[in-house]
Amino acid sequence: MKTLAVLSRKGGTGKTTVALHLAVAAQRAGRPAAMADLDRQHSLVEWRRRRPLGGPEVAECKAGALFTLQQAASRAADLLIVDTGPASDETTDHAVRCADLCLIVVRPCFFDIHAVAESAELVKRMGRPGLLVINQAPSRRNGVEMRSVGEAVRALKPLGLPISPIGLRSRAAYQHAEASGLAAQELDPDSAASAEIGALWRHVESLLWSSAELQSRSTAWPFQRAEAMAMAAPAE
Ligand SMILES: Nc1ncnc2c1ncn2[C@@H]1O[C@H](COP(=O)(O)OP(=O)(O)O)[C@@H](O)[C@H]1O
Ligand SMILES: [Mg+2]
Repeated sequence: MKTLAVLSRKGGTGKTTVALHLAVAAQRAGRPAAMADLDRQHSLVEWRRRRPLGGPEVAECKAGALFTLQQAASRAADLLIVDTGPASDETTDHAVRCADLCLIVVRPCFFDIHAVAESAELVKRMGRPGLLVINQAPSRRNGVEMRSVGEAVRALKPLGLPISPIGLRSRAAYQHAEASGLAAQELDPDSAASAEIGALWRHVESLLWSSAELQSRSTAWPFQRAEAMAMAAPAE
């Protein structure tokens, strides 16, 4: 089982949104996923409580119990996704320490980019692999990427962590889905949100599992029609 930690030193960047959408994407791609909610606000637990469908299971968890939860989850899941809160405390340290990959979620705006440096430092200090994911990017206008996205990519590069080539746009579909315990790809599998989550999942999966392991799997990718949104290379 692989463990993915989702973090950022700021509330509202989209940690819980990214975490739950990736967990559902993993399940739909044939990888059973479990989730741990380390945030004191417990948004993820609340989402699961409203969920009209089965899986992924969500465990409310304290930092000290994470290792035990990892052991238990590994008996049934391929992937454990750990959602964290914005505080810089030992909880986030634990999540990073036990992760195979740390996703740092950042919106393309000055305050988020400023705050994300601390998360990037933590991941590097602990020697864990990290990936910066841009969330809530504005839509392109007339096919042209908004300046804020390019500026964010330029500002994030010096942090020394890879930037995901797939980011998420700001879309009402994420909010609508979450409010009813669903993920956007379940609400509308043909939507743009579904496509970009599928592409992000595929990228994350390729970082977590080696290409040999991926090739040995016969599961059909459910998002084949999806077009990847290449944010780190804004020109199309
Ligand atoms: N890509 C997105 N497009 C539109 N709304 C989003 C997006 N990502 C997150 N949100 C919304 O922003 C709010 C905060 O997101 P959340 O995932 O709870 O952030 P965090 O866990 O970092 O505090 C939620 O209402 C969520 O639905
Ligand atoms: Mg959250």
